[in-house]
Amino acid sequence: MPRQIRLNAFDMNCVVHQSPGLWTHPSCRADQYHTLGYWTDLARTLERGLFDAIFLADVLGIYDVYRGGPEAALERAIQVPVNDPMMLVPAMAAVTRDLGFGITGTLSYEHPYTFARRISTLDHLTEGRMGWNIVTGYLNSAAKGVGMARQVGHDTRYDIADDYMQVVYKLWEGSWEDGAVLRDRASGRFADPARIHRIAHDGPYFQLEAIHLCEPSPQRTPVLFQAGASTRGRQFAAEHAECVFINGPSMRVVAPLVADIRARAAAAGRDPAAITIFTMMTVITDSTAEAAREKYAAYRAYASEIGGLTLMSGWTGVDFSTLPPDEPIGFSRRDAQTSALEAFTTADPTRQWTPREIGAHAAIGGRSPVLVGSPTEIADALQAWVAETDVDGFNLAYVVTPGTFTDMIDLVIPELQRRGAYKTAYAPGTFREKLQGPGQARLPASHPAARFRIRS
Ligand SMILES: Cc1cc2nc3c(=O)[nH]c(=O)nc-3n(C[C@H](O)[C@H](O)[C@H](O)COP(=O)(O)O)c2cc1C
Repeated sequence: MPRQIRLNAFDMNCVVHQSPGLWTHPSCRADQYHTLGYWTDLARTLERGLFDAIFLADVLGIYDVYRGGPEAALERAIQVPVNDPMMLVPAMAAVTRDLGFGITGTLSYEHPYTFARRISTLDHLTEGRMGWNIVTGYLNSAAKGVGMARQVGHDTRYDIADDYMQVVYKLWEGSWEDGAVLRDRASGRFADPARIHRIAHDGPYFQLEAIHLCEPSPQRTPVLFQAGASTRGRQFAAEHAECVFINGPSMRVVAPLVADIRARAAAAGRDPAAITIFTMMTVITDSTAEAAREKYAAYRAYASEIGGLTLMSGWTGVDFSTLPPDEPIGFSRRDAQTSALEAFTTADPTRQWTPREIGAHAAIGGRSPVLVGSPTEIADALQAWVAETDVDGFNLAYVVTPGTFTDMIDLVIPELQRRGAYKTAYAPGTFREKLQGPGQARLPASHPAARFRIRS
């Protein structure tokens, strides 16, 4: 039986997500991101394709590293303007039944008490289809926007994240016991106060006492995604994440990341196979290989290489406009995404990248590989990626939307289904049950959050 491939659609509540310039392609609806219709249509489409989830990235700052200012990003709409991703979830949930939601939330700029309530609200409204992509941010402009001089250092952000997780676990898992909600109309008792607890937290970064404001939602803790693949990021993922989102331009870069995340999870006492790892992928396909190549060439004509460099400068913290365009770049420690810079420097000694090559690469599909081919070739390549790197599936970025997703659904997914490598129906239950199996709506006892549960 071939391994089942999982798929998330990768999008963001903005005009340019991963393919700068392509929003001007006649078929692309990306600039309609500010309308509900864009999102409800997309959600229905993805559910037709049995996508596991829509995965929405988010940043709270502006990409102002390239050329030392915001102009390049503002002019080309490089992840700005960017609206709040959480607000989209109820609208998409209302027109779907099974699609999961992997929503990025940056814990560096929001207090865990208020954040926990927003996530619980969404887990209720989606009937247990909520996932949270735990990130710590990477842009200084975000830190300045909330009044800080600059962002907190890279590894310290993860230390803060560890403390943050203790707080939200306590709120989601330990404040309201199962059975605390009575909903008893006859007696007029909605809840039993004896079974609702004020949690106390006295950590290095957060100190608080609180009763969680929400009654327990179907999953309590949302499905936990993590994106961030530096050594410190992988350690954080191994301890907390149920799903990990990684990114790299080649199998050579991605395979060791996957092996390391699974090894660290095992060392943390968790089942390494139960961690679902998605790598980012961009797919351009058509009915024949030749038509796919023509489509790729047509897309290239719209791609913005300055946009690609603007993105890459923001991700890596390196202003590529200051480097010689045709000389290979090297690694230097920054406070942005360490793993993004590693992927184009130290992670693959056989491949050196110049700023010009990086700009061209990132102009279609950001940091991900781009697969171009017939449906059979794409299915072969995706299965090879799974076999060679041990990823469980892909966060599929779009070049044009919804075209990239509908091509996948109409051409590649049927081929994967014929091979037995893709589901033909959704599994029942919450998002976590769809990923982990029936009866697994809540986090397993082996997860660190479970120790905050109060036994009734
Ligand atoms: C594949 C990938 C996707 C990420 N997506 C986001 C995102 O949407 N929003 C965000 O603020 N940070 C995002 N990050 C950043 C990380 O969460 C983290 O805050 C930081 O940049 C450090 O990452 P590192 O461990 O790879 O160095 C992403 C990182 C990676 C590797």
